[in-house]
Amino acid sequence: MPGDKSIAHRWLLLAATGDGDSEIDDLPQADDVRSTAACVLRLTPAQPGLEAWLRGGDGPVRIAGRGWGGLAAPAWPLDCGNSGTTLRLLAGALAGRPFACVLDGDESLAARPMERVAEPLRLMGAEVHTEDGRPPLQVIGGGLRGIEYRPPVPSAQVKGAVLLAAVQAEGETLIDESAFGTDVAPTRDHTERVLAALGAPVEAADGRVSARAFQHPGFGGRVPGDPSAAAFLLAGAAILSGSDVEVRGVGVNPSRLAFASLVGAAAGPVEEEVLGEPVGSLARRDGEPRSIEVTDALLPAVVDEVPALTAVAAHAEGESRFRGAAELRVKESDRLEGLAMGLRGLGGEAEIQGDDLVVGGGGLAGGEADSQADHRLAMALAVAALGAERESVIHDVQWAAVSFPGFVETLRSLGADLEVEE
Ligand code: S3P
Repeated sequence: MPGDKSIAHRWLLLAATGDGDSEIDDLPQADDVRSTAACVLRLTPAQPGLEAWLRGGDGPVRIAGRGWGGLAAPAWPLDCGNSGTTLRLLAGALAGRPFACVLDGDESLAARPMERVAEPLRLMGAEVHTEDGRPPLQVIGGGLRGIEYRPPVPSAQVKGAVLLAAVQAEGETLIDESAFGTDVAPTRDHTERVLAALGAPVEAADGRVSARAFQHPGFGGRVPGDPSAAAFLLAGAAILSGSDVEVRGVGVNPSRLAFASLVGAAAGPVEEEVLGEPVGSLARRDGEPRSIEVTDALLPAVVDEVPALTAVAAHAEGESRFRGAAELRVKESDRLEGLAMGLRGLGGEAEIQGDDLVVGGGGLAGGEADSQADHRLAMALAVAALGAERESVIHDVQWAAVSFPGFVETLRSLGADLEVEE
């Protein structure tokens, strides 16, 4: 698997702001991670290791950190490309720096909600301007103080941004996601894990995370494989009879694995821990695709895997339902609309009822569908189409490279029959 992009964004930002050199191995050449790397280079110029990696180099990337105080004010807007995580985490990191900067992105990112991150950073003392709640974001940082904050939506990006500000603030910051209810699945916890592994005064329990000011040192680590990318291969294995897929060296952080049992995949034992992140394997052997029921409470834990899960759902017997999935409307595309339209284009049954996505099972005849310039739609529709009765065409499948460079080649290496037309 390519390295996990959620982890890669965080480790890159922390390497750039560490006090000393860091070395990151298996940094994925995913477009989103490249966006973060390019922004990091603008904030800490003259990084030969990062420059070589951005030119396509592989192998470990060495980054010379100069501490939080070593970040340079960028003279023109930072381009976060298609990556919401890049923009939101950077907003948090830069809220602590005493200079002005502008964060912007592509057409999809320009339509995504940013008040959810701007509000807590303002409460901490940063000046943050949005365009009607959307990018570009102007951040004028510095002089932060700790706050107690209950985010309006369960979001790891918001939690991560506030934590990156919290380690630069005076006093304690508490982010409280417990008010969503004890039955609501926790959001991914990569920021708190790496900060704790680096020795930061961070405590997390029962949906509440607190942090205080801390200057972390440089560090080293290999980015675990991306379980959300693996989800597409495991979904394929669930759909195609005779399959046997094992993904090794993949992150098995529990906050990312709720999808596994839904596609019928099993996690192997934890083999190692890297900067607080458990690494292991995931496998799906031949079996019947089962219909899927995702409740509102589970949704935050499968927010990135709903597209892969709908591919399985389309081939299962009986109806599947993804409840309370409004957050999917504000991802890289309106994923509720895109998935419903895409699955129908492939000959399936799918409809939106309020904020629920309902997918009829029974298999797909095959047809045509569009990725809507969204990486997870491109991959979900391609995998769904592999199980269809006749040949299908997915338009703009190249968007898969946003999180999974080599997606088509990897599927083909597993024996899947698909071709890319230029
Ligand atoms: C991410 C968090 C999720 C996820 C996104 C990556 C992260 O978003 O959809 O792809 O790395 O923090 P939210 O938790 O903000 O919804």
